[in-house]
Amino acid sequence: MRKPLIAANWKMYKIPAEATAFTDAFLPLIASKQKAEIVLCPSTTSLAATIEATKGTEVRIGAQTMHWLDNGAYTGETSPIMLNAIGVTHVLIGHSERRQYFNETDETVNLKLKSALAHKLVPIVCVGEHKAERESGKTNDVLRQQITVGLQGIDPAAATSLVIAYEPVWAIGTGLTATPQIAEDAHKFIREQIAEVLSPAIAASTRILYGGSVKPDNAASLCCLENIDGALVGGASLDPTSFAQIIAGASI
Ligand code: 13P
Repeated sequence: MRKPLIAANWKMYKIPAEATAFTDAFLPLIASKQKAEIVLCPSTTSLAATIEATKGTEVRIGAQTMHWLDNGAYTGETSPIMLNAIGVTHVLIGHSERRQYFNETDETVNLKLKSALAHKLVPIVCVGEHKAERESGKTNDVLRQQITVGLQGIDPAAATSLVIAYEPVWAIGTGLTATPQIAEDAHKFIREQIAEVLSPAIAASTRILYGGSVKPDNAASLCCLENIDGALVGGASLDPTSFAQIIAGASI
């Protein structure tokens, strides 16, 4: 009942010409009718070109971050109405790199999530523990805190599009991948927390993606467990062939 979602997070890579070179190569590699929803998240300056290049396809385009306000004196920020105006449909919220380098917190995640839902952008809220937190047995405490504060005050009726990405920080860009069992356990725990904070019905319909060194050779084993509904892919999504292989592997 949960449609798989495979998203590419291009981080701070690809100028517009590189983004359209990607879509030129990528679109012929994927079937026109997909089992999975496919989302590309380019950098801000490549959003418009990527939207144009994927017009008429089922591929959707997401931003990597946004401000929660509609407008204001916030130099350098992009607002949800600006994203809506150019045809962006999804937005990453609270990626661990935003938390680590740009001071994002569970409180700002919550503000952004409320704003994204109000503006009909599909929010992909990122959570996950650091290596030291896992090693000291704190993974579930960290995830509980991120979900409880990040999702607090959300109207369950408005949360039907909510997507969560579990990205253990120690697995991002390191080549270390969570074992399928570690990922499944974390996803199950996250789903239980969503049931507590929102409702069991929303928890059952929320897609929870795995992220952290997803590659063509591990996508199938990670994406097909009971509580894993797709992937958020960094490095391996920069290459059209490897991203298409991940989609094929993950959408079985
Ligand atoms: P990698 O796939 O490069 O580990 O990055 C994961 C990620 O941060 C996706 O948001």
